[in-house]
Amino acid sequence: MQQSENVSTPDHIKQRILEAWSRAWDRGEVDAFDAVVGEQYRRVSARSGESIELKDIKEEILNIRSAFPDLETVVDKILIDGDQASIYWHTTGTFTQPLNDVPPTGTRVITHGSNLLTLRDGLISEEEVTWDARALLADLGLKSLSSAFEAHDASSVVDNLSGEPSEEALKAFNRQFITGVTVVTTKDEEGRPRGLAVNSFNSVSLDPPLVLVCVQKTSSTYPSMFRAKHIGINIMSRDQRETLGVFASKAQDKFDQVQWHEGEHGSPLIDGSSASIEVEIKERFQALTHTVFIGRVRSAEAREEEPMIYKAGKFYDSLGLEPLA
Ligand SMILES: Cc1cc2nc3c(=O)[nH]c(=O)nc-3n(C[C@H](O)[C@H](O)[C@H](O)COP(=O)(O)O)c2cc1C
Repeated sequence: MQQSENVSTPDHIKQRILEAWSRAWDRGEVDAFDAVVGEQYRRVSARSGESIELKDIKEEILNIRSAFPDLETVVDKILIDGDQASIYWHTTGTFTQPLNDVPPTGTRVITHGSNLLTLRDGLISEEEVTWDARALLADLGLKSLSSAFEAHDASSVVDNLSGEPSEEALKAFNRQFITGVTVVTTKDEEGRPRGLAVNSFNSVSLDPPLVLVCVQKTSSTYPSMFRAKHIGINIMSRDQRETLGVFASKAQDKFDQVQWHEGEHGSPLIDGSSASIEVEIKERFQALTHTVFIGRVRSAEAREEEPMIYKAGKFYDSLGLEPLA
């Protein structure tokens, strides 16, 4: 950590911070921060209160730069008052490469933030930030549910002593739940229709008109869905058992095997479905192996065909159901 007489004047401190900032964020020379931070340096997130070390900040900057190759950061203002400094900045970039395990959406984002610095001997000893990688994901509509799973490893075996049911017990529970079945569709980057069978559809609210679906990250449709602005959701009718089989498969040519048309917002809608909606994706919650997509319904069409029923791995005809008294 260097220090000389004149590096501690506010102008010099400002100059050195700006230089380190620009080298790290604009050129990826993250070690430039070594010259401006003290030995006990730590950064605290104003949102979560979590603190993070310099080496993790460097990694975070490199990750963000590789996910947003056109990233441009501008320091709008830097103020120094005694041993306190504040930096106000904004950054612009397009999300075109994966950010950790989050696939790119192609979204362009402008985000603003501020950092409050505590200075000691002309070096930054502590920094409080209003913005971090989590905030960036939130700005992109990619909220993480990971804090809800902190104590859990996706691959761990769950037993009854852990306060959770066994997998068998959970499956038995799920088998008792009756749903319909949907086919969720979208288009890939080349404009080709893509889709998969989904029964995790649910209506969230009528006003505003919000719905959700949960999609596994291993699905071949997933990257296109993640990138899409709109998706189609088609409720399978009692006559679409074969169609459902196509979309529950990994076939490359699913849409060659069915009749479909394009909705107002460009989503592929499957002919003969009981009902179809087009949904503008608003949130993408990361839930370990799955993403929960929440969207606003932008168009809806319903038909006379009775829907298909799904229970415990089997499909049933809904025609002739008797209402309970
Ligand atoms: C009745 C039924 C419901 C399903 N529900 C879902 C679901 O909610 N989310 C999901 O990701 N996959 C679900 N699947 C599995 C996918 O449809 C299946 O893995 C499909 O092969 C994925 O295709 P893809 O990899 O070409 O996208 C369901 C399958 C069936 C048969």
